[in-house]
Amino acid sequence: MNKTAVFYGTLITIIVLALIISSDLNKTPDFKPKYADFVTEQILSKDTTNTYGENLQVLHGIHSKAQLLNVMRGFSEALGVQCDFCHNTDNFASDAKMPKRMARIMIKMVRNIDENYLNQPMMKKVTCFTCHRGQEIPKLVAER
Ligand code: HEC
Ligand code: HEC
Repeated sequence: MNKTAVFYGTLITIIVLALIISSDLNKTPDFKPKYADFVTEQILSKDTTNTYGENLQVLHGIHSKAQLLNVMRGFSEALGVQCDFCHNTDNFASDAKMPKRMARIMIKMVRNIDENYLNQPMMKKVTCFTCHRGQEIPKLVAER
């Protein structure tokens, strides 16, 4: 085999390996959610009024589209899904999809935990991402 062939062969192998390794790194548990703080802040909002949204039953303190969307991006990111996982995207106010109704139960659960158990001043709060970690259904036990 000539030297050029060996050189390029080695180079290509290194590039392919680097690509495989770097794509794997992107999926590590170090993934940092961008919108989780918006979710927590909104779920714990002391403001009980909404001036935006037609059918908000559990979120409150929502006064603009931008504010609501940050929360929705937080839900999507936490579960690793798109909006249509929970919504009929022709009518976001519709409750037809089960995951949307399930998400309401989850919001109430998170609010209950944070307000009633993690309520000391220095305590960190749980959010959707705490359990879901980018999955629709959290892994409930360590893989054996
Ligand atoms: C995990 C489920 C879930 C995901 C994913 C999700 N949403 Fe929602 N969304 C909800 C729930 C639950 C409500 C209602 C909250 C309430 O009742 O207070 C809602 C409400 C809304 C509303 C208000 C509708 C109205 O007028 O009543 C809009 C708009 C909306 N979502 C847009 C989005 C968009 C855009 C995305 C994607 C970026 C998204 N949602 C992703 C669960 C979800
Ligand atoms: C304490 C852990 C925990 C937290 C925090 C949590 N979840 Fe969940 N979630 C679960 C578990 C466990 C399930 C599976 C329940 C089942 O078996 O149906 C689930 C299921 C769901 C489902 C149904 C998914 C499906 O495919 O059926 C939705 C939607 C959901 N969660 C949304 C949320 C949202 C939105 C938040 C934040 C407001 C949240 N969850 C916070 C544990 C959690």
